[in-house]
Amino acid sequence: MDRLRIHPNKITGKINREIYGHFSEHLGRCIYGGIYVGEDSPIENVNGMRTDVIRALKEINVPVLRWPGGCFADEYHWMDGIGPKEKRKKMINTHWGGVVEDNSFGTHEYFELCRQLGCSAYVNGNLGSGTVREMSEWVEYITFEGLSPMAQLREANGSGEAWNVKYWGVGNENWGCGGNMNPEYYANEYRRYQTYIRDYRNDGGIHKICCGPNADDYTWTRTVLDTCYRNAAPEHHGFMDGLSLHYYTVPGDWKEKGSAVWFNEQDWYRTLSKTLYMEELIERHGKIMDEYDPDKKIGLIIDEWGTWYDCEPGTNPGFLYQQNTMRDALVAGINLNLFNRHCDRVKMANLAQMVNVLQAVLLTDGEQMVKTPTYYVFQMYKSHQGASLVDSTLETSGIGLEEAFMVPNLTHSVSVDTNGQIHITITNLSADESSEIEAEITEREVKEVTGELLAGDIHAKNTFEEPSNVQPVPLQNIILNNGTFQFKLPPSSVAHLVVK
Ligand code: AHR
Repeated sequence: MDRLRIHPNKITGKINREIYGHFSEHLGRCIYGGIYVGEDSPIENVNGMRTDVIRALKEINVPVLRWPGGCFADEYHWMDGIGPKEKRKKMINTHWGGVVEDNSFGTHEYFELCRQLGCSAYVNGNLGSGTVREMSEWVEYITFEGLSPMAQLREANGSGEAWNVKYWGVGNENWGCGGNMNPEYYANEYRRYQTYIRDYRNDGGIHKICCGPNADDYTWTRTVLDTCYRNAAPEHHGFMDGLSLHYYTVPGDWKEKGSAVWFNEQDWYRTLSKTLYMEELIERHGKIMDEYDPDKKIGLIIDEWGTWYDCEPGTNPGFLYQQNTMRDALVAGINLNLFNRHCDRVKMANLAQMVNVLQAVLLTDGEQMVKTPTYYVFQMYKSHQGASLVDSTLETSGIGLEEAFMVPNLTHSVSVDTNGQIHITITNLSADESSEIEAEITEREVKEVTGELLAGDIHAKNTFEEPSNVQPVPLQNIILNNGTFQFKLPPSSVAHLVVK
């Protein structure tokens, strides 16, 4: 029996809603076809956005959406995506399949999407191939409310009112697709570009995100902080509000990543173990950040995470389309538990990507749409958004098939919402064994415990033919006993319990 102890009166942090954020790039069928079909499409839409997709996304309370990339961001010239659609420039999407990008989804369409979702905007600017002027004018176009050339242009294009942008990324993966820069060069460029991201509303509203490391590149983190943070005057609060981190779970290696659906138990544990490596990354980058920023003013922004497999056979390899199984649900459950537990430093995270790309929450095919197991994890975890993280301990054992890829049997996180309800999310990483858990809540009477469970064979998935194979069901047989309670989790499962 594994033991969980929860101390609801010991609040250890606040779980920023943005930890449950998403990412949509001009890549494959994420934007085009997945989200945006255009006003004239036979697929039901509002101002070009798919009604079914918007409805599903609203159910998981998307707090923030990053756009337009990814690697695409550093080749994107925003002026190509404004004005009459028939006149918009067509370009080659060099990173993603070499297809024609007709720019029919641009700035106005993105803010319409955010409006429909009711989420905050996170725009990623182009530092790699753009100019300071281009980025600064984009900020003016989006946010300036008075009389200015860009505000007038926006008005001429149909939007008299300015929009609010909460987060601004200054380049993406500038150590790679965003210009192959070394950290010193990028950091100096960052200082220059960010200077011209004006806060026209004067409310400190734009949070600037500096491009952070690729996975375990600790030198990048240190160098960038050294150049940008240490040498900044206090009123510039280090020139940045966030430092990004990208880490993908790849079961094999980058050449042979492994199949999304054909895998064995060894691959299962390898995948989960590699997911758990995220904790080491958060802790080690966090430690470097602590040296510069002990008050934790800069957020670690994990704006790309998720599984990356070999793409679905028969699909365009540049489109990164992959299926999603219970293994992905576990990867999501583990990562989100980690982000919650490290919410003192992790202020935002964005799953890559929202629809039809990598670890998507939704898959579409023409007019069909299916919710993936990952979708349901976001649905089950949504009560954590904006809640208070509380102290908890879990005694659990190590499991696995190979010494190098052992994992804990269970992972978890616990929060208390504004109504005083306790939310426990817990994952059973075992491929074939159930786990019994005894939970104790200190200093609090337990009146009622309910739960929901997402479980299935490790390969279980939802398809267009069978869209409801994997869905949350009530968690049965929760036994209350003198202030403690017991429950059982089947193998390969994710659960959410509510304690009143
Ligand atoms: O999410 C796919 C790609 O992964 C992004 O464009 C890039 O930033 C990362 O390498």
